[in-house]
Amino acid sequence: MNNFNDKVAVITGAASGIGRAIAFRCASERMKIILADIEQPALDQAEQALRATGAKVLAVRTDVSKVSEVETLAQKTIDTFGVVHLLFNNAGVGTGSTVWDSSLTDWQWVMGVNLWGVIYGVWIFVPIMLAQDTECHIVNTASIAGLLPNHPSAPYQVTKHAVVALTENLYYSLAERHAKVNVSVLCPGWVNTRIMDSDRNRPPELQNEPINETISPELDAIVQEMRHAAQAGLPPQQVADFVFNAIRAEQFYILTHPEFTPIVQVRMENIIQQRNPA
Ligand code: NAI
Repeated sequence: MNNFNDKVAVITGAASGIGRAIAFRCASERMKIILADIEQPALDQAEQALRATGAKVLAVRTDVSKVSEVETLAQKTIDTFGVVHLLFNNAGVGTGSTVWDSSLTDWQWVMGVNLWGVIYGVWIFVPIMLAQDTECHIVNTASIAGLLPNHPSAPYQVTKHAVVALTENLYYSLAERHAKVNVSVLCPGWVNTRIMDSDRNRPPELQNEPINETISPELDAIVQEMRHAAQAGLPPQQVADFVFNAIRAEQFYILTHPEFTPIVQVRMENIIQQRNPA
């Protein structure tokens, strides 16, 4: 897709960070924009700021981990703008540590938002796009953690690998039927967003028992290191630029941090050579 003027974009996790930057980039491309996010005050703020640029915007409070809410998002998109061209399945959260030290609610929350949120987005919007039979593009936000063998949070790594796999599968299925829907998977390294404050949106029913809230000094040091890495990360606007260049170029894998590529390569070679993870 090359011409975005007057086309319709739906963005989940649009109230902050990468999603918000993508929304502003959509506005600068003169698109109509649906902002979806669970955090109402930040969503309202993003909606106002985008309206001030002259963009046509609709904000729909959406919890992407709930299928009924993603269905409502799609319905409101069609009711308002009649059509959808770009879908950014971008909402995501991070928490947890090892497979066994992460609580079951850590697993359920991260799987719900990062994986089920993307499944619902694709499951609900792809049939609409296929029926439209117009040029469309879906960008699923995974992470470089979706290509690496190790990450401090097992639930996060698992969901991001799954989003890469889901998007690869989607690519083949759409290509086989010569659909006009294209897809990309976004795999950034550190970006300066509020990802390390994901807990602000953790629902009450998935909070940890107080016993799980005490973290070891080792884990605390890792969390602090990750917080600093995020603060020193790419500006989200730069990620939005990568994303739009990739949509224009019909590029599937969107990698923003070349310094991680050698680690991805070692993982691939280990698999091929049947060497243990290094
Ligand atoms: P962020 O925290 O600034 O933005 C995430 C947005 O998702 C927030 O507006 C939040 O309210 C929303 N959200 C959380 N739970 C939701 C739910 N259940 N339903 C709908 N919206 C929900 O963080 P960031 O970094 O902009 O995150 C965007 C995506 O980028 C995520 O999928 C994240 O995993 C991914 N990512 C981020 C990296 C980073 O270094 N910041 C690196 C690689 C990937």
